[in-house]
Amino acid sequence: MLFRTALPLFLLASPANSLANFGGRLNIQGAQSVNFWKLKTLPKVAAVRVGASPSDLASSSSLAASFPEYTFTQPLDHFFNTTNATFEQHYWLNTRHYTPGTGAPVIVIDGGEDDGPDRLPYLDTGIADILASATGGIALVLEHRYYGQSVGVSDFSTDSLRWLNNKQALEDSANFMRSVKFPGIDEDMTAPNTPWIYYGGSYAGARSAHMKVLYPDIVYGSLASSAVTHAALSNWEYMDVIRLAADPVCSANLVRSIEVVDSLLQNPQTHNLVKGLFNLTGLESDQDFVSEILQDPLGSWQNKNWDPAVNDPSFDEFCNALNGNTSTVADTNKTVDLPGDVKVNIALLNYAKYVRDNIVSSCPTDSGATVEECFGTNDASRYQATDLSQEWRLWTFQVCTQWGYFTTAPPSEDTPAIISRLIDLDYLHKICIQAFPPGKYFTVPSLPDIASVNVLGSFDIAADRLAFIDGQIDPWRPDTPHSQYYAKPRPDTIIRPFKLIPGAVHHWDENGLANHSAEPPEIKAIHEQEVAFVQTWLKDFQKP
Ligand SMILES: *[C@@H]1O[C@H](CO)[C@@H](O)[C@H](O)[C@H]1NC(C)=O
Ligand SMILES: *[C@@H]1O[C@H](CO)[C@@H](O)[C@H](O)[C@H]1NC(C)=O
Ligand SMILES: *[C@@H]1O[C@H](CO)[C@@H](O)[C@H](O)[C@H]1NC(C)=O
Ligand SMILES: *[C@@H]1O[C@H](CO)[C@@H](O)[C@H](O)[C@H]1NC(C)=O
Ligand SMILES: *[C@@H]1O[C@H](CO)[C@@H](O)[C@H](O)[C@H]1NC(C)=O
Ligand SMILES: *[C@@H]1O[C@H](CO)[C@@H](O)[C@H](O)[C@H]1NC(C)=O
Repeated sequence: MLFRTALPLFLLASPANSLANFGGRLNIQGAQSVNFWKLKTLPKVAAVRVGASPSDLASSSSLAASFPEYTFTQPLDHFFNTTNATFEQHYWLNTRHYTPGTGAPVIVIDGGEDDGPDRLPYLDTGIADILASATGGIALVLEHRYYGQSVGVSDFSTDSLRWLNNKQALEDSANFMRSVKFPGIDEDMTAPNTPWIYYGGSYAGARSAHMKVLYPDIVYGSLASSAVTHAALSNWEYMDVIRLAADPVCSANLVRSIEVVDSLLQNPQTHNLVKGLFNLTGLESDQDFVSEILQDPLGSWQNKNWDPAVNDPSFDEFCNALNGNTSTVADTNKTVDLPGDVKVNIALLNYAKYVRDNIVSSCPTDSGATVEECFGTNDASRYQATDLSQEWRLWTFQVCTQWGYFTTAPPSEDTPAIISRLIDLDYLHKICIQAFPPGKYFTVPSLPDIASVNVLGSFDIAADRLAFIDGQIDPWRPDTPHSQYYAKPRPDTIIRPFKLIPGAVHHWDENGLANHSAEPPEIKAIHEQEVAFVQTWLKDFQKP
């Protein structure tokens, strides 16, 4: 996934903090994040059209030129004969290391909830290339149905999205593995005659684990990195990981600032004053106000990366702004008197300035837009365009139907919060009702059917030749088998590897450097371990 660093916020990488350019789209959620998606993505598309050329576009197209792109025809409905329609599933092939006639494996990178081309760095210098190089195998990126160009519908209405679900999308991979014929390769590379090693990170990591348990006969081995195998309605732990792992001064400033905001909002005398600090008195709903404050700066934590070339520095920049020029909480926690005998901590004033400069300023008020139009979420009609450019609808639909992950405040008042306690499930879930009115053939459930995910194992999911790799301070770790809140300890063995990368965030093993010896020690180490266990697994492979 390509990170667009150092661009102004409104140009900053599309996919709203996509888990991809950000690692995908996993943290798109709630109507406010759709507002952000629009503010960031639409100007970017416009900028590209008028000839601006973000450097990342250039690098992604040059990678696309290094790996041939092919398509594979899939039925839109594998199971129920509700349509005879098909779509072309796109994939990109790396045959650099392929040694024919040696029983070499196929390594697949599951594209997950992102466009395939965003995953090409993993095929070039990341884990797919590393494993292919070590085994003489073929590596590929397989795009997920409905994402990128692998689209078989003419719009993203509720009815058109009804074939976007886990069962159908997993069967795509199985069908592909059983029957693909790679252009230019004479050997039969299909499963189970050839060992297939499945890799995914994040949502795709969960898919990698699910493939291993649902299709043990064709998936020889799986690597599930930052695999969110536990679906949850309320995902308050996400922000709790950040609170505990962030710079302690920044974290204390956040907790205190949020406390002050929540308390000033409750008092009619100070209600408008606090919104005014952020230049957001024009925003009607207090929940929209606080969701805006929290949304952008905190979501960038998961986009930290060990490789400076792909790292998103936004979170650290935000902390620097919040902490100001002082390095102690004692200083930033000092109060300042505002008119009306209101006292606020200095950090909150820094916070407000950051939000005004970086977020509120992206609202084109000079062209007549109001902050309500930019950041209000009450008008459902703004979430009902269904044309194919509304890519935010895809992961949002998956969230609303199966996955959940609404980032609420902690359920207990005793747990300090870095997001406002006004952010609750009803508020975040509202987008599911606004964006997906009932169709003729399909109705989104009243709450996501997380049981349909968790029945596959949740925190306890396990199989031989299924590896879990997680990051110690990944905000998604609470939803993986390494959950520090809920999962049972497990041994780490060759047949069931269970690796926690120290100091790592979200699927940090997926990318690599062209010169692997120059990777930081913990990244070099995990790559070496992954090579070692995959090679050991492959020694036991037998054709059926
Ligand atoms: C779908 O159609 C095929 C071919 O007509 C048939 O074999 C199959 O049983 C049908 N499946 C269902 C679930 O109706
Ligand atoms: C699919 O094609 C078969 C054979 O032509 C036809 O009988 C069936 O009605 C079609 N199904 C749908 C849903 O259009
Ligand atoms: C506050 O917002 C108004 C329009 O809503 C804008 O004209 C003004 O420049 C903003 N002020 C600051 C300090 O950002
Ligand atoms: C930090 O200090 C510099 C120089 O004293 C000053 O120009 C700047 O505005 C200060 N920044 C903040 C956030 O207080
Ligand atoms: C900040 O100030 C508040 C109010 O005086 C106090 O309750 C809180 O403990 C302080 N926080 C820190 C981290 O010093
Ligand atoms: C690769 O990185 C190592 C460690 O930093 C360095 O010693 C070596 O010169 C690099 N090799 C190349 C070809 O750049």
